[in-house]
Amino acid sequence: MCGIIGYSGSGDAVPVLVNGLKRMEYRGYDSAGIALLGKLPKSGLDFWVRRAEGRVTNLESKLKDHLLAHQGIAHTRWATHGAPTEINAHPHCAGSVSLVHNGIIENHAEIKDRLIAEGISFQSQTDTEVFAQLLNYEFSRLLKSNKGESPRQLVLKALQVSGAQALGHYSVLFMVKECPGSLFALHMGAPVVACKAEGVFVASDLQALLEYGRDLFFLKPGQILVAHPDSLEFFKASDLSLEDVSSERIEWAAEKVEKDGYEHFMLKEMFEQPLTVAETLSGRLPQDEDSPFLWDNPIAHQEIWSKSKRVTLVACGTAYHAAMIGKYYFEKMARVPVDVELASEFRYRDPVIDQGHLIGVISQSGETADTLAALRMARELGLDTFSICNVPGSTIARESQLSYPTKAGPEIGVASTKAFTNQLTILCALAADIGRLKGVDSARRKGVAQALARLPQDLERVLSFSDEFMEMGAGLSPLKTILFIGRGMMYPIALEGALKLKEITYRHAEGYAAGELKHGPIAMVDEKLAAVVFGPDDDVLAKTLSNLEEVRARNGKIIGIGSDDNSAFKKISDEYIGLKSLHWSVAPMAYVIPAQFISYGLAKHLGCDIDKPRNLAKSVTVE
Ligand code: F6R
Repeated sequence: MCGIIGYSGSGDAVPVLVNGLKRMEYRGYDSAGIALLGKLPKSGLDFWVRRAEGRVTNLESKLKDHLLAHQGIAHTRWATHGAPTEINAHPHCAGSVSLVHNGIIENHAEIKDRLIAEGISFQSQTDTEVFAQLLNYEFSRLLKSNKGESPRQLVLKALQVSGAQALGHYSVLFMVKECPGSLFALHMGAPVVACKAEGVFVASDLQALLEYGRDLFFLKPGQILVAHPDSLEFFKASDLSLEDVSSERIEWAAEKVEKDGYEHFMLKEMFEQPLTVAETLSGRLPQDEDSPFLWDNPIAHQEIWSKSKRVTLVACGTAYHAAMIGKYYFEKMARVPVDVELASEFRYRDPVIDQGHLIGVISQSGETADTLAALRMARELGLDTFSICNVPGSTIARESQLSYPTKAGPEIGVASTKAFTNQLTILCALAADIGRLKGVDSARRKGVAQALARLPQDLERVLSFSDEFMEMGAGLSPLKTILFIGRGMMYPIALEGALKLKEITYRHAEGYAAGELKHGPIAMVDEKLAAVVFGPDDDVLAKTLSNLEEVRARNGKIIGIGSDDNSAFKKISDEYIGLKSLHWSVAPMAYVIPAQFISYGLAKHLGCDIDKPRNLAKSVTVE
């Protein structure tokens, strides 16, 4: 969840590091810090460290008279161990070592006790400082008994020993005084990516590197990187043997990481939905309704899906809501039974596994700790796996057998928007294709490819109501509770609407299946409650409208999002926006847009920090 960046080259390290931190600030933003290795006026070659609570701009104000150094590391934090204070901010220095870290070291307390018994004292409450002290301790021991090995070799040995002792999923990036010019990184389950241009750059996120290079080196778990200004070397942590790592070309445009004049990344990303959906579908749509969709790995796709008898879709948060809609798609179009599981629950259960059980994981970042653990568990159980991920080169995309990438481009706003519509697009296309593969003669499937081909224009049309949706959102400010309601595929959309609203406005919202209202939540309804209702013209709309009568009878406010010619729905609503009638298969992609803008409109009205909501961070790499 934290962002880490390092640079070693011939330029001034500070602008590179600060720029990298700003690109990764969405990963965590409660404190930030920087360490340079350079010649200090009094002490000679040493670390120059500045840290600050809060945003990167607070750190920047402490860097005005920075040391001119050509090497440094930096960090933006989402606190796990220790409060978000300056003392707990990274980098942490210990003797020869200055270090930043991402993830969690599970046995930090035990290691700390051991080091304290050796006479080492600690400044912070972090697990990070424990690793820095451990590494320095091991390095100093090796240095004392050194029989002619280079400091670099000793650092590698110390890192090998420290990495074997420190348990958990994490990565570290550090500099050592005795090895000027070098950066060292260890991947123990949290991403590390590097590139070489005018110097070397190492980060937790590819977004931080795109402006320096497109040919990126992704470390694998258990690998060490040693980066010098003109070279990158990779080692296996277990035996320190050299490893060959080839680069991967990433086509994401660096400009996509800019706001492009929009007030927020979230706003920009909501407007990018039509274009990105077109990008995800590009080259995939079949020639006609009986031809296959075109996937990257058609033979493996065909092999794995032909033997699948049951699918479990596993994800967290917004991606979980996409999985819920995936269930409707697969059941309708492919007649494949689908279970949908929260990754954090699935991984700790003892699921009943059948022959032909296929596990699909969905993740924007491709790094979510619980989702990754669920994928690994499935692989250990010998199950076939597929993933739907947005970040190229991400761990989940690499570790699954089949990968169906969404092409939403970088999603920087913490609240996920365009990744969701793109996940739905892939799920819809995939279910239609599997229906064809399994010979399901379903009239329902017909027309899906045409509906997908028209989807970008349909989404553009929905976006033309963005001002009205935002106004609706702002109008919710006096209310105490917002219920989001829908049936069928609109039920997960209701859950997603409530999640968006909670995340960025901190107001109370709940998503409910309309039929569930009278089983409890109707008790909350009075004049201080609004129900935002998603009701496309489908075979369950009449039922939803009866449920709305119950809300109206108790003075709840009704905000309807339905089709433009549905007079009954319009009549029962206090406010109503009608969308053009859509093919059933693409209704979820269209109806989530009002939910996103309503939440955004309210958050803006309330003056919330929309791209960086409190307590949240993008890419949840801790459990
Ligand atoms: C909500 C949101 C989170 C993520 C969840 C999973 O707006 O962003 O709920 O959807 O943390 O993240 P990924 O998709 O990266 O696995």
